[in-house]
Amino acid sequence: MNENIIAICPGSFDPVTFGHLDIITRASNMFKKVIVVVASNSAKNCYFTPDERVEMIKKCIPNLNNVEVEHYDGLLANYAAQKGATAIIKGLRAMSDFEYEFQMALTNKELNPQVETLFLTTAAQNMYLSSSMVKQIASMGGDISRFVPQVIKQDIIDRINSKK
Ligand code: PNS
Repeated sequence: MNENIIAICPGSFDPVTFGHLDIITRASNMFKKVIVVVASNSAKNCYFTPDERVEMIKKCIPNLNNVEVEHYDGLLANYAAQKGATAIIKGLRAMSDFEYEFQMALTNKELNPQVETLFLTTAAQNMYLSSSMVKQIASMGGDISRFVPQVIKQDIIDRINSKK
Protein backbone atom coordinates (compact mmCIF):
# COMPACT_ATOMS: atom_id res chain seq x y z
CA MET A 1 0.00 0.00 0.00
CA ASN A 2 1.33 3.44 -0.90
CA GLU A 3 1.17 5.67 2.17
CA ASN A 4 1.19 8.97 0.30
CA ILE A 5 -0.89 8.72 -2.82
CA ILE A 6 -4.54 9.67 -3.02
CA ALA A 7 -6.08 7.93 -6.02
CA ILE A 8 -9.33 8.63 -7.79
CA CYS A 9 -11.48 6.13 -9.67
CA PRO A 10 -13.68 8.14 -12.04
CA GLY A 11 -16.56 6.98 -14.17
CA SER A 12 -20.21 7.35 -15.08
CA PHE A 13 -21.19 4.26 -13.06
CA ASP A 14 -24.68 4.16 -14.60
CA PRO A 15 -24.98 1.75 -12.85
CA VAL A 16 -21.88 0.41 -11.07
CA THR A 17 -21.11 -3.21 -12.05
CA PHE A 18 -18.92 -6.04 -10.75
CA GLY A 19 -16.32 -4.82 -13.27
CA HIS A 20 -16.10 -1.38 -11.63
CA LEU A 21 -16.20 -2.89 -8.14
CA ASP A 22 -13.27 -5.16 -8.95
CA ILE A 23 -11.19 -2.14 -10.01
CA ILE A 24 -12.26 -0.10 -6.95
CA THR A 25 -11.42 -2.97 -4.59
CA ARG A 26 -8.00 -3.54 -6.17
CA ALA A 27 -7.27 0.21 -6.03
CA SER A 28 -8.23 0.28 -2.35
CA ASN A 29 -5.57 -2.39 -1.73
CA MET A 30 -2.94 -0.33 -3.53
CA PHE A 31 -3.45 3.17 -2.12
CA LYS A 32 -4.03 4.71 1.27
CA LYS A 33 -7.12 6.56 0.12
CA VAL A 34 -9.30 6.11 -2.95
CA ILE A 35 -12.03 8.50 -4.03
CA VAL A 36 -14.60 7.06 -6.42
CA VAL A 37 -15.89 10.03 -8.36
CA VAL A 38 -19.14 9.92 -10.26
CA ALA A 39 -18.33 12.33 -13.10
CA SER A 40 -20.22 13.63 -16.11
CA ASN A 41 -19.68 12.08 -19.50
CA SER A 42 -21.29 14.45 -22.01
CA ALA A 43 -21.62 11.57 -24.50
CA LYS A 44 -23.95 9.60 -22.20
CA ASN A 45 -27.59 9.99 -21.20
CA CYS A 46 -27.68 8.48 -17.75
CA TYR A 47 -30.60 6.53 -16.24
CA PHE A 48 -29.64 7.41 -12.67
CA THR A 49 -29.00 10.83 -11.13
CA PRO A 50 -25.47 11.46 -9.87
CA ASP A 51 -26.68 11.20 -6.25
CA GLU A 52 -28.38 7.88 -6.97
CA ARG A 53 -25.20 6.54 -8.55
CA VAL A 54 -23.19 7.64 -5.52
CA GLU A 55 -25.64 5.91 -3.17
CA MET A 56 -25.62 2.69 -5.22
CA ILE A 57 -21.82 2.54 -5.14
CA LYS A 58 -21.78 3.17 -1.37
CA LYS A 59 -24.28 0.32 -0.85
CA CYS A 60 -21.93 -2.04 -2.71
CA ILE A 61 -18.76 -1.29 -0.74
CA PRO A 62 -19.71 -1.10 2.96
CA ASN A 63 -16.41 -2.73 3.98
CA LEU A 64 -13.92 -0.65 2.00
CA ASN A 65 -12.94 1.78 4.75
CA ASN A 66 -10.38 3.75 2.75
CA VAL A 67 -12.78 4.49 -0.11
CA GLU A 68 -14.96 7.60 -0.38
CA VAL A 69 -17.61 8.17 -3.04
CA GLU A 70 -18.52 11.60 -4.39
CA HIS A 71 -20.14 13.31 -7.32
CA TYR A 72 -18.29 16.03 -9.23
CA ASP A 73 -19.59 17.97 -12.17
CA GLY A 74 -16.48 19.68 -13.55
CA LEU A 75 -13.19 18.64 -15.09
CA LEU A 76 -11.57 15.60 -13.55
CA ALA A 77 -8.15 17.24 -13.73
CA ASN A 78 -9.42 20.09 -11.51
CA TYR A 79 -11.06 17.66 -9.12
CA ALA A 80 -7.78 15.75 -8.73
CA ALA A 81 -5.95 19.01 -8.00
CA GLN A 82 -8.56 20.05 -5.40
CA LYS A 83 -8.27 16.70 -3.63
CA GLY A 84 -4.49 16.44 -3.84
CA ALA A 85 -4.93 13.23 -5.84
CA THR A 86 -2.00 12.24 -8.04
CA ALA A 87 -3.32 9.01 -9.54
CA ILE A 88 -6.35 8.29 -11.72
CA ILE A 89 -7.20 4.59 -11.81
CA LYS A 90 -9.09 3.16 -14.77
CA GLY A 91 -9.95 -0.38 -15.76
CA LEU A 92 -9.07 -1.51 -19.26
CA ARG A 93 -11.16 -4.21 -20.84
CA ALA A 94 -10.45 -4.92 -24.48
CA MET A 95 -8.40 -3.03 -27.05
CA SER A 96 -11.62 -1.20 -27.87
CA ASP A 97 -11.28 0.81 -24.63
CA PHE A 98 -7.73 1.79 -25.35
CA GLU A 99 -7.95 4.72 -27.76
CA TYR A 100 -10.62 6.52 -25.74
CA GLU A 101 -8.81 5.94 -22.45
CA PHE A 102 -5.47 6.95 -23.95
CA GLN A 103 -6.98 10.22 -25.18
CA MET A 104 -8.47 10.96 -21.76
CA ALA A 105 -5.22 10.10 -19.98
CA LEU A 106 -3.19 12.44 -22.22
CA THR A 107 -5.76 15.24 -21.87
CA ASN A 108 -5.84 14.93 -18.09
CA LYS A 109 -2.04 14.97 -18.01
CA GLU A 110 -2.03 18.14 -20.10
CA LEU A 111 -4.59 19.79 -17.80
CA ASN A 112 -2.94 18.60 -14.58
CA PRO A 113 0.69 17.49 -14.97
CA GLN A 114 0.76 16.27 -11.35
CA VAL A 115 -1.64 13.43 -12.11
CA GLU A 116 -0.74 10.02 -13.56
CA THR A 117 -3.36 7.73 -15.11
CA LEU A 118 -2.82 4.07 -14.23
CA PHE A 119 -4.68 1.26 -15.98
CA LEU A 120 -5.63 -1.98 -14.27
CA THR A 121 -6.35 -4.95 -16.50
CA THR A 122 -9.91 -6.00 -16.01
CA ALA A 123 -10.58 -9.44 -14.54
CA ALA A 124 -11.16 -11.98 -17.31
CA GLN A 125 -14.76 -12.60 -16.29
CA ASN A 126 -15.53 -8.87 -16.69
CA MET A 127 -14.00 -8.44 -20.15
CA TYR A 128 -17.38 -8.08 -21.83
CA LEU A 129 -19.22 -6.37 -18.98
CA SER A 130 -20.52 -2.80 -19.28
CA SER A 131 -23.22 -0.66 -17.66
CA SER A 132 -24.99 -0.41 -21.05
CA MET A 133 -25.11 -4.21 -21.33
CA VAL A 134 -26.59 -4.45 -17.84
CA LYS A 135 -29.31 -1.92 -18.74
CA GLN A 136 -30.03 -3.69 -22.01
CA ILE A 137 -30.30 -7.11 -20.36
CA ALA A 138 -32.53 -5.75 -17.57
CA SER A 139 -34.78 -3.96 -20.06
CA MET A 140 -35.38 -7.26 -21.85
CA GLY A 141 -36.18 -9.10 -18.64
CA GLY A 142 -32.84 -10.91 -18.40
CA ASP A 143 -31.15 -11.85 -15.15
CA ILE A 144 -28.50 -9.29 -14.13
CA SER A 145 -27.44 -11.13 -10.94
CA ARG A 146 -24.08 -12.11 -12.42
CA PHE A 147 -23.23 -8.51 -13.32
CA VAL A 148 -24.28 -6.36 -10.34
CA PRO A 149 -24.50 -6.92 -6.57
CA GLN A 150 -27.79 -8.12 -5.16
CA VAL A 151 -28.04 -4.99 -3.02
CA ILE A 152 -28.61 -2.73 -6.07
CA LYS A 153 -30.26 -5.22 -8.43
CA GLN A 154 -33.83 -4.18 -7.66
CA ASP A 155 -32.98 -0.44 -7.90
CA ILE A 156 -31.81 -1.09 -11.46
CA ILE A 157 -34.80 -3.19 -12.46
CA ASP A 158 -37.23 -0.62 -11.01
CA ARG A 159 -35.59 2.26 -12.90
CA ILE A 160 -35.50 0.34 -16.18
CA ASN A 161 -39.17 -0.61 -15.81
CA SER A 162 -40.16 2.98 -15.01
CA LYS A 163 -38.51 4.09 -18.29
CA LYS A 164 -40.58 1.68 -20.42
O1 PNS B 1 -17.40 5.53 -17.30
P1 PNS B 1 -17.04 6.52 -18.38
O2 PNS B 1 -18.30 7.17 -18.96
O3 PNS B 1 -16.15 5.95 -19.44
O4 PNS B 1 -16.20 7.67 -17.64
C1 PNS B 1 -15.77 8.81 -18.36
C2 PNS B 1 -15.49 9.95 -17.38
C3 PNS B 1 -16.76 10.32 -16.62
C4 PNS B 1 -14.41 9.53 -16.43
C5 PNS B 1 -14.99 11.15 -18.23
O5 PNS B 1 -15.97 11.53 -19.17
C6 PNS B 1 -14.62 12.36 -17.36
O6 PNS B 1 -13.54 12.41 -16.83
N1 PNS B 1 -15.57 13.32 -17.22
C7 PNS B 1 -15.35 14.51 -16.42
C8 PNS B 1 -15.19 15.74 -17.32
C9 PNS B 1 -13.78 15.78 -17.85
O7 PNS B 1 -12.80 15.92 -17.13
N2 PNS B 1 -13.67 15.64 -19.19
C10 PNS B 1 -12.41 15.58 -19.87
C11 PNS B 1 -11.81 14.19 -19.74
S1 PNS B 1 -10.41 14.05 -20.73
